[in-house]
Amino acid sequence: MGAERIAAVDEVPADGSLLYTVSDDGEEREAILLQLSDGSVSSFLNYCMHWTDVKLDTGDGAPVRGDDVVCRKHAATFEKDSGVCTHGPCEGAQLDPVSVAVRSGDVYLDDTDYEFVRAGVEDDDPVDRSTSPGERLGF
Ligand code: FES
Repeated sequence: MGAERIAAVDEVPADGSLLYTVSDDGEEREAILLQLSDGSVSSFLNYCMHWTDVKLDTGDGAPVRGDDVVCRKHAATFEKDSGVCTHGPCEGAQLDPVSVAVRSGDVYLDDTDYEFVRAGVEDDDPVDRSTSPGERLGF
């Protein structure tokens, strides 16, 4: 069925996220894997629904609080299973889901909209470690 292995389930942290890269019609996009409380795995594109130029995982794992993943910028919280924002400036919005499947302890990309590119992200991709509220590049 052509589904590509992304990582072992054991590599997906409970208290963070695991970055990988997909291609969407030739354009590379970052995505994250999140471990759910039942041991399964969810996946979303790696950007906040409030400001879409803000990454949830800036290279060291997205902050996780209980069953939510948290945006560092303005502290929006998104349910790890559904991706729905339950608190914050984009409340009610939903992270862009990427369909993944778990088989025999491994996570596979299972989404016809995306092609798997690599585990992790491009090394020369500048990491946005900015955490100051309101700070933004002025392009
Ligand atoms: S950019 Fe994520 S909450 Fe504002």
